[in-house]
Amino acid sequence: MSFRTGPSVFKDRAKVSFDYVPDKLPHRDAQMQRLFSMFRPVGDSGIAANAFLYGPVGTGKTHTAKRFLEDFRVYANKHGRGLDHVHVNCRQKMGDDAVLLHILKHFDARFPDRGFSIPEKLDSLRKWIEKQQVHLVVILDEVDVLLKKSGSELVYTFSRFGEEAGKGNVSLVLISQRREALDLLDAAAMSTFRRTNAVEFPKYSDGELRDILKIRVGLAFHPGTVDDSVVELIADIASDFGDARYAIDILERAGSLADEELAGEVTPENVRTAKAGVTQSDLQERLNELDKPQRLVLLGIARKIRRKTYITTGDAEEAYGLVCEEFHEKRRAHTQFWKYLQDLDAMGLIDAKKSGEGVVGKTTMISLPGIPAKVLSDNIETTLKRRKAM
Ligand SMILES: Nc1ncnc2c1ncn2[C@@H]1O[C@H](COP(=O)(O)OP(=O)(O)OP(=O)(O)O)[C@@H](O)[C@H]1O
Ligand SMILES: [Mg+2]
Repeated sequence: MSFRTGPSVFKDRAKVSFDYVPDKLPHRDAQMQRLFSMFRPVGDSGIAANAFLYGPVGTGKTHTAKRFLEDFRVYANKHGRGLDHVHVNCRQKMGDDAVLLHILKHFDARFPDRGFSIPEKLDSLRKWIEKQQVHLVVILDEVDVLLKKSGSELVYTFSRFGEEAGKGNVSLVLISQRREALDLLDAAAMSTFRRTNAVEFPKYSDGELRDILKIRVGLAFHPGTVDDSVVELIADIASDFGDARYAIDILERAGSLADEELAGEVTPENVRTAKAGVTQSDLQERLNELDKPQRLVLLGIARKIRRKTYITTGDAEEAYGLVCEEFHEKRRAHTQFWKYLQDLDAMGLIDAKKSGEGVVGKTTMISLPGIPAKVLSDNIETTLKRRKAM
């Protein structure tokens, strides 16, 4: 058959893909500058530094960290120092062992998956750093998942790595959506990690999202294919969450809808359709990692918590029971339910913490860290219904 073709609205579609790290991140100058002042001693005199970046979903934490370290390498090199960095997504690489393996593979892609203990891995890492004569910056992204799973041992080890006369050869950038993530550090790790090194990433405003989108449009689209009113509409939709990833995802999807229609330009209707098909940030991907009982538990929590900050585990279990009835699923026993709560907590989808210690005994309180309850429940409902239909 012959294909109908027309000019694409995209000039360079890679510029709206999730792994494109922009050269410049508008409205993150203050964060970049703070990172520079914290890391400057690394470049000037080889003294290790630590930073903690926190803020809601899609506020540029990961990309600012990556951009900063790319740029900072140039600065360090000018000062006669080798600098290297590795980014680890702790949600994907759960546990100390997997994190270390990922770092080693950065130096040696053939490093074996099995057969080396954690101390042996640390030893190899030490040798690599010495051999390459670099200061290594490890970015532990979504670090709360690692801390919940393995405790703070690795953070502690890294913060003391190769320490000699007050200097070290590993620096850390910890990233989390939650400001409280550092509370998960034990006393030893906390003492080496200064709280003052926290950098906040607030939600983007409507106007900030507009600036970010305009620059992306210039990079990824042909001139004249995306009107300012389209940019405004996307910024407006995404500003409810202040989430730049959501905004860029809608932009990309609207562009591809325009191409499907061979329209030659992106229309507001493309944006509205795109919005319906794009879930906020990586939510869908995260939900796909869950099995059915975990989804049912999460749906119960999301429904129950709608107008509250916290709910108790008792509330959550009751809500879970109702969801099971509605979806005709077998309700799991109390101990199983607890296990699901722990899983969801470890994956960062809920935040469970003991409260009222010493007051009315201990109750575990549950909150939702990043995702609005309504968005969460709508999305889980869709996945559950879709499965049922299959
Ligand atoms: N100031 C900015 N300028 C340009 N693009 C940005 C800016 N902030 C974020 N982005 C883009 O938005 C997307 C999300 O950014 P990033 O992944 O850094 O967010 P995050 O805060 O790490 O989110 P999460 O908490 O979900 O991991 C990326 O595509 C990134 O390039
Ligand atoms: Mg991130």
